[in-house]
Amino acid sequence: MKILVVGSGGREHALAWSIAKSPRIQTVYVAPGNGGTALDERLQNIAITDPAALADFVEQEHVALTVVGPEAPLAAGIVNVFRARGLKVFGPTKEAAQLESSKDFAKAFMKRHAIPTAEYQTFSDVKAAHDYIAQKGAPIVIKADGLAAGKGVVVAMTLEEAHSAIDMMLSDNKLGDASARVVIEEFLSGEEASFIVMVDGKNILPLATSQDHKRLQDNDQGPNTGGMGAYSPAPIVTPALHARVMREIIVPTVQGMAKDGIPFSGFLYAGLMIDDEGTPKTLEFNCRMGDPETQPIMARLKTDLLTVFEHAVSGTLDKVELEWDRRTALGVVMAAYNYPDTPRNGDLITDIPAETPDCVTFHAGTTLTGDKLTTSGGRVLCVVGLGDSVKVAQKHAYAAADLIHFEGSQMRRDIGWRALKR
Ligand SMILES: Nc1ncnc2c1ncn2[C@@H]1O[C@H](COP(=O)(O)OP(=O)(O)OP(=O)(O)O)[C@@H](O)[C@H]1O
Ligand SMILES: [Mg+2]
Repeated sequence: MKILVVGSGGREHALAWSIAKSPRIQTVYVAPGNGGTALDERLQNIAITDPAALADFVEQEHVALTVVGPEAPLAAGIVNVFRARGLKVFGPTKEAAQLESSKDFAKAFMKRHAIPTAEYQTFSDVKAAHDYIAQKGAPIVIKADGLAAGKGVVVAMTLEEAHSAIDMMLSDNKLGDASARVVIEEFLSGEEASFIVMVDGKNILPLATSQDHKRLQDNDQGPNTGGMGAYSPAPIVTPALHARVMREIIVPTVQGMAKDGIPFSGFLYAGLMIDDEGTPKTLEFNCRMGDPETQPIMARLKTDLLTVFEHAVSGTLDKVELEWDRRTALGVVMAAYNYPDTPRNGDLITDIPAETPDCVTFHAGTTLTGDKLTTSGGRVLCVVGLGDSVKVAQKHAYAAADLIHFEGSQMRRDIGWRALKR
């Protein structure tokens, strides 16, 4: 059987790697893929990104099923294009993807369905936004309504920062259309966790829990990034909290979307803030898997992922039970020189160790030219270690990462610190 994975990041490498383990797989195509998917002989990169051209390819090659990794093609309606042509695809429609592509849509949806989240208001008028901030005070959070590749959120600790975020987004249009409207919301404190489930329109299948590390440097210092490391499971999500998140957030979201006439299918990612009392609130929704959370999650998945996707596109996710490696998986991101500002491309990457039962390296910003592997993006690799404890998983990940070389590489040395502190 042939499968297509759309995307080029570490998330897509990990998904393709996991699907390729199925004995029924002939080829996993990755569009456009990266250096890592090029190196794996079970995977094949194809240089197509246009949705209609991808659908043509799928028809010609008799690809059984397509899985879409990133938010941009989902928000642009790739699932609508595939479905209109009767092709099997896992992901939300453009309409359902608004849970991620419009913060205002997501907030109004949560309010309408009584899903716990920060209090908010949406503005397109500059003066009204400034007035609201003056009235509410700091800390306060300003979010561009649209997709802004991780640059659309300002957590303002002072009034000055808050007002200048409004100027940047609404007056100076620094984020273009994405910030034509802004959501201003209440600051929440606590610990974050990623809660990711698969949805087939109706049935919900939770994946293993995980936690990301957004800041560039150790001790959660430095600028925000796409994520510098993640691990699974996340001990903060106890079985009791898991049940509560399902009951208060995930189930009402899936039912609410169906009720509103835009049933959700695909990966649904709720970013949670869990306060000191253990109460979860929804920070955001993403309509796809997290990157780098996918890498440790896939490293732990024992169930045949192809079978899971087949059920997902047939509306029978209720028939699936997932089996997980009991060990912890911990992924360390190696980023390029000068990431996240202006990451340098073209650095030669050497000495990536071969996969072992304790360690696997997923590629993100890499390109293979001949037999030379070079950097071609901000986040270059995610090295995942597995072990019976967080400590051992961490040791395995760093032992492998320390062997890998490219000029100017950056990585945090403390991935997993919250779990270790527990
Ligand atoms: N209400 C809030 N209170 C405190 N911190 C917040 C709040 N909302 C967001 N944040 C912080 O800002 C980060 C980014 O916010 P959010 O997840 O909404 O943005 P995003 O750009 O969609 O992120 P992602 O790239 O993860 O999808 C969160 O992970 C969290 O650390
Ligand atoms: Mg988001």
